[in-house]
Amino acid sequence: MADLPNPSTYAPLPRIQALAAPDMAAVDALIRTRLASDVVLINQIAEHIVSAGGKRLRPMLVVLAGQATGGTGADHHQLAAIVEFIHTSTLLHDDVVDESDLRRGRRTANAIWGNAASVLVGDFLYSRSFQLMVELDRMEVMQILADTTNRIAEGEVLQLLHVRNPDTDEAAYLRVIERKTAVLFAAGTQLGALASGADARTQQALYDYGMNLGYAFQIADDVLDYTADAGDLGKNLGDDLAEGKATLPLIHAMAHSDAATRDRLRAIIQDGDSEAMPEALAAIHATGGLEYSRRLALDYAVAAEAALAGLPDSEALAALRGLARYAVERSH
Ligand code: IPE
Ligand code: IPE
Ligand code: MG
Ligand code: MG
Repeated sequence: MADLPNPSTYAPLPRIQALAAPDMAAVDALIRTRLASDVVLINQIAEHIVSAGGKRLRPMLVVLAGQATGGTGADHHQLAAIVEFIHTSTLLHDDVVDESDLRRGRRTANAIWGNAASVLVGDFLYSRSFQLMVELDRMEVMQILADTTNRIAEGEVLQLLHVRNPDTDEAAYLRVIERKTAVLFAAGTQLGALASGADARTQQALYDYGMNLGYAFQIADDVLDYTADAGDLGKNLGDDLAEGKATLPLIHAMAHSDAATRDRLRAIIQDGDSEAMPEALAAIHATGGLEYSRRLALDYAVAAEAALAGLPDSEALAALRGLARYAVERSH
């Protein structure tokens, strides 16, 4: 297993953000103008979640992939906005499914306006992203994004099937996170390259980078659900356990605990018992579940970086390498 090598070959986050800033200003303007509807509640809810910011990681990946493969233009900005709309729409839906009440440091839309409104505005954002796609008038782009959104929906349903299921194992977990999270990262970075006119091999490299990064990012998110500072995270801790969602730290603990502890963990998952957090954490600590998960996230980050090996070096490429590192080292 390789470690991420010498830190000096990675751009730090502020530098990455500075490199992406001119493109991201255009993306943000587009997100703002294309959010609008004459239905007041749509504007209120969409504004509530979008103005809270978020890391804007996925659109940043689109423009940096573009910069790394020939340069960015209006199509990149439009694609970046599309990807962020899709992401935002999944967050609105996800918080309903997960019964979460904190997102981006604010009360969730479902906590304020209710489940029905959140789901419907999520649908608005999804379909608005389709409108933006059609404007690009490129069949290959529509193909990639249609497949991607369909896979995300499959991932969410697959995850639902595993809720309160103590037999969820690592392989099942990885299948879920590929679909619910990694495919959107992969589509974003591939599309960044495609819009720069990159050849198929380069597009594939950026796709592989995004896919591995997406895995790393979601595993890190699942570790943070157990370990983060709630203020930093802007989300509640322990949401996964509370709803009976077995993520990697707990799956690892179940696989490596003695029979009595394993039976207890199974019951906790079946009950979605948030009161049992100290008990779950003790088992996770005793089995090295956090270290194991962080290690796997790092392996995916290393694989993401390795996918970029054939590309000409540039500031944007160093930024992409830096984001692979950031995905696993972040605190929120
Ligand atoms: C949250 O994604 C959903 C996951 C895939 C873990 P982000 O952590 O990128 O959310 P924002 O956009 O920064 O709020
Ligand atoms: C990410 O899973 C789901 C999406 C891809 C929307 P989580 O349920 O872990 O995301 P958070 O932690 O609520 O952001
Ligand atoms: Mg959630
Ligand atoms: Mg989470």
